[in-house]
Amino acid sequence: MDTSPNNRRVFDREASEDIGRNVSSNATIGDVIAARYNRRDILRGALGVAAITASVSPLALMAAAPAQAAGDRFSFDEVEAGVDEHHHVAPGYDADILIRWGDPVLADAPAFDPHHQTADAQARQFGYNNDFIGIVPIPGEDPNRRALIVVNHEYTIDELMFPRRGEDAGPLPRELVDIEIAAHGGTVIEIEKVDGKWRTVPGSAYNRRLTGSTGMEITGPAAGSDRLKTAADPTGRKVLGMLNNCAGGITPWGTWITAEENFHGYFWTDQVDSDGKVVAGVGGREAANFKRYGVPGRWYEWGVHHDRFNVDKEQNEANRFGWIVEIDPLDPTSIPKKRTALGRFKHEGCENIINKDGRLVIYMGDDERFDYVYRFITTGKVNREDRAANANLLDEGTLSVARFDADGSVHWLPLVFGQGPLTEANGFASQADVLIETRRAADLLGATKMDRPEDVEPNPVTGKVFVILTNNSRRKADQVDAANPRAENRFGHIIEMTPPDGDHAADTFAWDILLKCGDPSIAEVGATFSAATTENGWFGMPDNCAVDGEGRLWIATDGNTPTATGRTDGVWALETEGEARGTSKLFFRCPAGAELCGPRFTEDDTTLFVAVQHPGEDGESWDKFGRPSTFEDPMTRWPDFQEDMPPRPAVLAITRQGGGRIG
Ligand code: FEO
Ligand code: CA
Ligand code: CA
Repeated sequence: MDTSPNNRRVFDREASEDIGRNVSSNATIGDVIAARYNRRDILRGALGVAAITASVSPLALMAAAPAQAAGDRFSFDEVEAGVDEHHHVAPGYDADILIRWGDPVLADAPAFDPHHQTADAQARQFGYNNDFIGIVPIPGEDPNRRALIVVNHEYTIDELMFPRRGEDAGPLPRELVDIEIAAHGGTVIEIEKVDGKWRTVPGSAYNRRLTGSTGMEITGPAAGSDRLKTAADPTGRKVLGMLNNCAGGITPWGTWITAEENFHGYFWTDQVDSDGKVVAGVGGREAANFKRYGVPGRWYEWGVHHDRFNVDKEQNEANRFGWIVEIDPLDPTSIPKKRTALGRFKHEGCENIINKDGRLVIYMGDDERFDYVYRFITTGKVNREDRAANANLLDEGTLSVARFDADGSVHWLPLVFGQGPLTEANGFASQADVLIETRRAADLLGATKMDRPEDVEPNPVTGKVFVILTNNSRRKADQVDAANPRAENRFGHIIEMTPPDGDHAADTFAWDILLKCGDPSIAEVGATFSAATTENGWFGMPDNCAVDGEGRLWIATDGNTPTATGRTDGVWALETEGEARGTSKLFFRCPAGAELCGPRFTEDDTTLFVAVQHPGEDGESWDKFGRPSTFEDPMTRWPDFQEDMPPRPAVLAITRQGGGRIG
């Protein structure tokens, strides 16, 4: 990774998550080596024969033998796994473009011209790298026919967005930096279904672009903290923009909660050594905080042109990112709120469920190697009759972090100032400090270091909660634990948590491993897909997910490439119940270079919206292309396939030909 500002390859996005900045002495449940194996592990041969015979009698194994050819609940015909420039969906389905980078959002948006982009135009058009997708009902409308969709714009890729940004292009000029800032954030846009097909309503009064410079408020326990005050905002309560919004959620009252993930990459310093490495101690009194989050990451050269992104000039700006942001899509004039009660880390998602006692429970992952799974429970109850009564519900509640024990229990450890080690002796003078430095607080509580937590999603039908762990090739053999059982975990795994009696607020849940990913035909990989899974049906690197109305799980992936798995990313349907548990089928696959984000079903399950992110990225990963992918020479020109048009991240609407439920 060359971080020299003179080299246009300023950062390697994936390499950052590779680093892992958790240097706490927390046990990875230390030397407890997989004290716990479930029946499926045994049957699939994940354990050596010696271990099996030592722990399980042959009679018990026979009794546990699975029925052959048990059926899964998915009736579609599978897509063939592979790699090409196009997307592919299961036969009998259509995957239609709903909106692409550059398409108009606001009524006065100019037509997209990739050769003459401006920040002003971009701020009115659909942003780059669509990630999370949410559907927000419009009062009085059938959401299966007319609704708002909200979409995150996670990050930008200058060499694919702008002309002449190939190797040795030099530092990014101010005008392109400002387009990048405008391409971040999110979009709210009205959509309607006409004659069975979805389309956007570009002139709708609901439509809104949020960017890296939209005015926002900081609320909750950390608002007003001295550590959030800057020259531009002496109150510590106002901030410009949201950055690297990855996944998120929709609250029961129809607001969009969106997760700032790799915020560290936007902060700059000039204090680097001759190798371009950030000098130790940058951050002054915030040095320990900065180090734990990797601030300043120096991915983007924004700090060269904007002082607030240069920590040498405005140290506290970095503390104002890494939060969950709540936005009311029904009011385009509303001010987005950064809800500090939900902690500061590299937030992946924000999926939630109303607990049986009426409080809202939100599950969140901190996506970095060896970081943690979190839960937030509101103090107040959700008011189902009066939407306005929920306006500040997310400002008060309890944030906890998960410790997965080898006995199959997961314990939620509250991050409360004054309790346990979260005291002045450890540098916390208030709850604001605990929240600003959530990671360091969680280290002290002994949370379990996970293999990159992505979506953590409750299944409202079964009451279980899926924890998607995408991969961690840096985990060493002496760091494995029951919940992260594979060293050099290249392909990731999925954990299933079960709250007792459906109580998502309980202190202790049960947990089990649902699936270990990777190619099941290679024994050393240790994948646990069912025997009914075909060579197209397995996947690696699970990332986001969706649960349909029947409680069936759909997995979106990030990291399947020709070199990694011989296939592109996509959507796989994964059976989680009954004898077919662990059976997976490929439903949709991305064009080369893309990851799949935001899968989201309409309420009636007749449409699946998917976000195809960064099509054409990383040309070297496909030997057929085998060179850097650029604006002029991209690995694919998906989805337009027009000369002169670069690849464009886009949201697709997948429907069944002739109508009907997906799957
Ligand atoms: Fe933005 Fe963790 O994926
Ligand atoms: Ca993600
Ligand atoms: Ca991702």
